[in-house]
Amino acid sequence: MCTLRRRSLTEPYVDLAKVIIRRMRSADLEQVMAIDRISFTLPWPPSSFQYELTHDDTSRCWVAEYPSGELDAKVIGMAVVWFIIDEIHIATIAVLPEFRKMKVGEKLMAALLKDAVKSGAVHAFLEVRETNQAARVMYAKFGFKEVGIRPHYYSDTQEDAVLMNLEPIESEFLDSLG
Ligand SMILES: CC(C)(COP(=O)(O)OP(=O)(O)OC[C@H]1O[C@@H](n2cnc3c(N)ncnc32)[C@H](O)[C@@H]1OP(=O)(O)O)[C@@H](O)C(=O)NCCC(=O)NCCS
Repeated sequence: MCTLRRRSLTEPYVDLAKVIIRRMRSADLEQVMAIDRISFTLPWPPSSFQYELTHDDTSRCWVAEYPSGELDAKVIGMAVVWFIIDEIHIATIAVLPEFRKMKVGEKLMAALLKDAVKSGAVHAFLEVRETNQAARVMYAKFGFKEVGIRPHYYSDTQEDAVLMNLEPIESEFLDSLG
């Protein structure tokens, strides 16, 4: 399978095989917060990722890392998952804008869902802005179903949140990713 993906000659491409999904470390925090700030109109307070990483036993924090130069690697995506008994809540997930639409989000999502299954989670839950078509389509691809609305949930725009649920987590699509 060809993993080189490029949308146009002027845009970066991602060799998906070189994208590593791993647990977040303190050294990643600046890059993670930069992704958060550029991706969301209501970014998390600066201390939040640090707290998730070091103080919250129910959290699992992930990054997508991509080689940049011979020795360095760049964080190009991040996600935070909360474990609540046999359920996970996907608290946040984002990819750097210049690396979007190249399956990085999909790879990150697949990794965190597989990890959740291994840890005994049977369903996954999240909230997404009603107008966030990209995310809603990605979640639907994994089998998430819309199960409700939280009216005026987002304080900046008063936009509704759509509640999405995946149960069981082992969707056909996740299995097809190997
Ligand atoms: C949502 C997000 C993480 C997706 O990451 P990504 O790496 O661009 O997504 P992928 O390239 O892996 O796409 C996976 C699937 O999602 C869907 N998708 C992704 N971007 C899309 C877009 N702009 N429009 C429609 N569908 C889209 C497609 O079904 C795609 O599969 P396909 O390429 O076979 O069509 C990314 O758009 C992002 O960081 N957005 C800003 C932060 C955000 O909104 N996070 C979600 C909060 S709930």
